[in-house]
Amino acid sequence: MRDPQTFCIKTYGCQMNELDSEVMVGMLERRGLRRTDDEQTADILIFNTCSVRDLAERKVLGKLGQVARRRRDDPIIGITGCMASAKKETLLKKLPYIDFVLGTNNIHQLTSVLDEVISSSQRIARVDDQFSNELDYAHATRNDPLRAHVSIIRGCNKHCTYCIVPYTRGSECSRHPDDIVAECKNLVEKGYKEITLLGQNVNSYGKDRPDWSLRFPDLLARLDRIPNMCRVRFLTSHPVDMSVELMEAIRDLPTVCEFVHFPLQAGSNRILRKMNRGYTREDYEDKVAALRERVPGVAIGTDIIVGFPSETDAEFEETNEALRRLKFSAAFLFSYSPRKGTPATRWDDDVSQAEKERRLQTILTTQEEVSFTEMQQMLGTRVEVLVEGTSPKDEKMVKGRTRTWKNVVFPGSQQLLGTLQTLTLTSMAHQTFVGSLDIDPIPNHP
Ligand code: SAH
Ligand code: SF4
Ligand code: F3S
Repeated sequence: MRDPQTFCIKTYGCQMNELDSEVMVGMLERRGLRRTDDEQTADILIFNTCSVRDLAERKVLGKLGQVARRRRDDPIIGITGCMASAKKETLLKKLPYIDFVLGTNNIHQLTSVLDEVISSSQRIARVDDQFSNELDYAHATRNDPLRAHVSIIRGCNKHCTYCIVPYTRGSECSRHPDDIVAECKNLVEKGYKEITLLGQNVNSYGKDRPDWSLRFPDLLARLDRIPNMCRVRFLTSHPVDMSVELMEAIRDLPTVCEFVHFPLQAGSNRILRKMNRGYTREDYEDKVAALRERVPGVAIGTDIIVGFPSETDAEFEETNEALRRLKFSAAFLFSYSPRKGTPATRWDDDVSQAEKERRLQTILTTQEEVSFTEMQQMLGTRVEVLVEGTSPKDEKMVKGRTRTWKNVVFPGSQQLLGTLQTLTLTSMAHQTFVGSLDIDPIPNHP
């Protein structure tokens, strides 16, 4: 029987995976294991994986192979997360050196699975299709002392044709609002200043539980009333469910930051239809206009996929034009990667790698220009910054983010950490502003 003392967790993918890793660290520490970052000596190695694109999977498999080749002392190796859910027990066959596979909906079983692996040396796969057991967030070991992720809804019902997430995380399952409010209260009492609510589609919150009679804007209002709550953010918003009520909540609730991550994915209506996104480019632009009209100074972030099956050059240009026109404050740009088991694999992946690369470069350049112009226009304005740490480049400077997710550095000391400061943006370099402290705070913000 093995007697593990230490563990190492490697996390890939999105914020939901980061949160799940924090929960797993908490579970393992509570059973007396010690965390280490050293993959060469840890007795237990956990790879919390992502399957969203081929590259994400290849990264994990490369790392796994490398570690397994080097380690001669037979550590316990587990795969958790989306790749575990997508590939299930086939991973045990494919990778003879791994001991367990634990899906995204089975994280609560980590301790019992480890017990079984340790006592019986059996290889185990536990992968449920649906999320049903809430996790022990109260004991999660959080990586950041000021900013916390809080899960409000898991899974996704949208079934965009390219996307593996509905298969790796199951259908939508909202978390009870009382549990969310209690967790957030607790975090605020511990000194957390910024809460980011997580879900594949936070705007669907509560739709699977009509008996609760509570939707996402209502949840935001409840969180806004928590004493000393400082900032609330949320990720991700699906355009179809972006309601006027939500826009008004962003406008009216002082704690809710004016930043909405709101993926367009493509600028061509034919491609959007083929992606099963459920809106046209015009619908999307109308929602952006409505949001900007209601919430002055709101910043919008987006995700884009280029090279979707059969996307023509002209259709790609529509995406490029949309980026120019809509002036996103942040854009995550990807080239299409076929995912086994998703509907889009019934079409040929017929845009060549070189052409995908060209399209990606084109929109990267467009977005750089858009971001640069936006940042230039912000120079001289006053912003509220949550001070998050010392600048990695200069210890006499501190860094933080504005309500609209812009990076700012300014002269200051450790004592400012965790405070909200009002700054004037004086210059910029790359993606970061340099600011100077103002004496009077901006009114109306906590
Ligand atoms: N739930 C979120 C995002 C989930 S995945 C949402 O719907 O907005 C994050 C991003 O990865 C997606 O927005 C999409 O742009 C990209 N993505 C998902 N599947 C992909 C694939 N097969 N190939 C390339 N990019 C993909
Ligand atoms: Fe994937 Fe679409 Fe769901 Fe986002 S909304 S997770 S892109 S299926
Ligand atoms: Fe990746 Fe799963 Fe998140 S596929 S992006 S880790 S939901």
